[in-house]
Amino acid sequence: MNSHNATGMSRRDALKTLGAGVVLAGTAGIFSRTQAAEATGMATRADGVLGWELPELPYGYAALEPHFDARTMEIHHTKHHQAYISNARKLLEVHPELLAKGPEALVRDLASVPEAIRTGIRNNAGGHVNHAFFWRCLTSSPTQPGARFAELLAKSFGSIDDFKKQFADAAMKRFGSGWAWLVVTGLENASTNRLKIVSTANQDSPLSEGMTPVLGLDVWEHAYYLHYQSRRADYVNAFWEVVNWKQVEQNANQVMRG
Ligand SMILES: [Fe+2]
Repeated sequence: MNSHNATGMSRRDALKTLGAGVVLAGTAGIFSRTQAAEATGMATRADGVLGWELPELPYGYAALEPHFDARTMEIHHTKHHQAYISNARKLLEVHPELLAKGPEALVRDLASVPEAIRTGIRNNAGGHVNHAFFWRCLTSSPTQPGARFAELLAKSFGSIDDFKKQFADAAMKRFGSGWAWLVVTGLENASTNRLKIVSTANQDSPLSEGMTPVLGLDVWEHAYYLHYQSRRADYVNAFWEVVNWKQVEQNANQVMRG
C-alpha cells in the first residue's frame, strides 16, 4: 500500500498537521473498516486471522505480578477464555460455513449469524475475540506511550493523565460485566477518524459497532476478584503498570495505515 495519500502527504506528515480532536487522518478510500479490523493485532494464525484455538500468552502467567496475579491469569486464560472458544465452536458445529469465516468476521457481522445462535455467538465469539486482543495489550516489561502516540492521546483527551482518568471512568462506570476500550471510530469516512473511549457490556465487541479497538480492559469480576475482590478501582490502576503501549501504538498505526 502506498504510504502517501492523495495530497502527497505521508501519514506521519498528516499526523503533524492534525488539529485537536482529529486524531487519525487518512485518505478517503485508502483503507476500509474491514482492512482496519483485520490489522488490529488480533491475529494468531500465520495468515493473520484469529482462529478457533486458545492463543498462547506472549508471557508467563506470573509475568504480570504483582499487578495481575498468576492464579487469576491462569484461570482467566485456561478456563474463561477457553470456555468462550469451546462454547462458540459447539454452537457452530452445524454451521461449518460460519466456522470457516473465523471469530472476528462473525463478530463484525452478527447479522450474518442465524438468529437462533446469534446471542450465543455474540457472547462467546465476542469473548474469544476480546480476550485474544486483551492479552496482547499487556506486557511484563513496563512501557510508556511513544512520543507520537502520546501526542495523539493528548490531542484527543487533553493529556495522557486525562486520557487515563477518562478511560478509568469508563471502566468504573460499566455496571456489572464488560469492557473499557480505546477505539478508532469513523472508519467509513477517513475525515472523521478519531480516537474515542467507550465501554461495552458483557462480551460485546467494538467491532460489532464498526469501531476498531486499540486498547481494551476486561472489567469482569473474573479478571480481578481473586486478588482485588471488589476493588475494581485498584485493578484499573494496576492495569496501567502492565499496558503494552508498543502494541497499542502498533494497533493504532495499523488502522492509520495509508
Ligand atoms: Fe475475561
